[in-house]
Amino acid sequence: MGRLAIYPGSFDPITNGHLDIVQRGLACFGRLRVGVATNPGKKALFTTEEKLELIRLSVGDDPRIEIDAFDGLLVDYAERVGAHAILRGLRAVADFEYEFQMAHMNHFLRPSVETVFLMTGPESFYVSSSLVKEVASHGKDVSALVPPPVAAALARKFGAP
Ligand code: PNS
Repeated sequence: MGRLAIYPGSFDPITNGHLDIVQRGLACFGRLRVGVATNPGKKALFTTEEKLELIRLSVGDDPRIEIDAFDGLLVDYAERVGAHAILRGLRAVADFEYEFQMAHMNHFLRPSVETVFLMTGPESFYVSSSLVKEVASHGKDVSALVPPPVAAALARKFGAP
């Protein structure tokens, strides 16, 4: 079965950068659980159900990957599902401060769960869900930056270019 890592995030929507981390994560952990945070305070383009469906379609059928949503604290979710680690992707230096704070806060809350960072590849270090949404909202083609089901879903939301 192997060790289990949670890969948490907003995934609004999943991008090629996230998929890159999923693949890199699978090289380090036996199992991955992609956890979509349902943060009622954060305005999202996609509903949680839509995000889950887009992740399912994008990662395909892999017995090592589970996908679900969680609310409340990430460390409590990690405890509930018996995860050994939290996996996060790092793009540029700009990600560091936020990630550093979160990792330390999570460690304070639950020292037994380690946060592990993997770096995204050079082809996706500038890709973020927010930029992808912004660019797509202006009618530009983002199909090189997101999985095909996400490109189609963005085109439906914003009207095809
Ligand atoms: O994709 P994002 O928006 O960078 O992901 C942030 C996420 C979902 C990992 C973070 O907001 C989170 O863990 N939310 C769950 C609530 C929680 O545990 N908050 C305390 C974090 S120290």
